[in-house]
Amino acid sequence: MIASRPAAVRHKPRALCEERAEPGGARGPGQRVRIEQLERRFARLGLRLRAPGIDDVPAIEAFLATRFSSPALEMVTAYDLYRFVRFGHPLLLEDGAGRIVASLLECTYGDAESTSYCVSLAVAEELAGRRLGADLVTHSALAASLRGCGAQRAVLAPHNHASLVTFINLCGHSVEAVYPRLAGFGAARLAIARPLDGDPLVDERIDRERLRGFVEGGEAGVDYALIPAHEPQRLCQLYESTPFQVVAFLAPERHAEDAWFVAVPPPPEES
Ligand SMILES: CC(C)(COP(=O)(O)OP(=O)(O)OC[C@H]1O[C@@H](n2cnc3c(N)ncnc32)[C@H](O)[C@@H]1OP(=O)(O)O)[C@@H](O)C(=O)NCCC(=O)NCCS
Repeated sequence: MIASRPAAVRHKPRALCEERAEPGGARGPGQRVRIEQLERRFARLGLRLRAPGIDDVPAIEAFLATRFSSPALEMVTAYDLYRFVRFGHPLLLEDGAGRIVASLLECTYGDAESTSYCVSLAVAEELAGRRLGADLVTHSALAASLRGCGAQRAVLAPHNHASLVTFINLCGHSVEAVYPRLAGFGAARLAIARPLDGDPLVDERIDRERLRGFVEGGEAGVDYALIPAHEPQRLCQLYESTPFQVVAFLAPERHAEDAWFVAVPPPPEES
């Protein structure tokens, strides 16, 4: 069962996003400058970014086993790893000793938007707190946009707060579909998407203060809807009965119980 409507990949309301100075220029040069900035940041942290080959698969498997547990770990099979490494644009970060400390697997598909699909984002526990996951996803988005992809997509678990903050708040994804019980997963999953059509690509990163002001100054049910994060079935109901989409994840404090999905109506031209 799918609780969703097909919809164009939406941009977020600018009123909720950080004002960021993006390198100017046309699509190509702007994107390349930002890729270089990210790579300099990795280098400053003593990390090397590289694309893995087939021989790296055992080390990737071993690294993923440190960051995922069953059954999520078994969902990425040897066939998948071969496919992502051989045909996709996967990224690894290695430390000075050549140990894998972060991964992002990717494959690009031939759908209408040439979707760049991400899986197995992981960052070593000892490097947490640096937003390295968001940097890897953004690097991949910039490169995908340069290849002509129109959207970056992934599937997330509604209880994985670190990945929700990383993709939805820091990288500009919105929830385009909610599956109450996604086949094969046996549990609720969120399909997320980020448009890659900007020229230059603008990060639609949520500004927490603006988000608070928006919620405090708006009208519930009209300007926004707040759905408790621990009640994904209410998210399904929202997607079944309204055109609202989740554009932000409000997690006031780490490990806090009171985390919320923030959904907004479509922009006027779509409604
Ligand atoms: C998801 C993951 C890659 C993020 O790694 P990272 O970039 O090092 O994450 P950070 O520690 O920098 O945290 C990123 C953001 O999430 C927030 N965050 C992290 N854990 C959180 C939690 N439990 N609740 C709420 N927010 C959380 C952080 O505060 C940070 O936001 P901020 O910089 O605005 O404060 C990492 O947690 C991971 O490897 N998880 C295990 C594998 C996994 O579940 N991958 C996702 C599959 S889609």
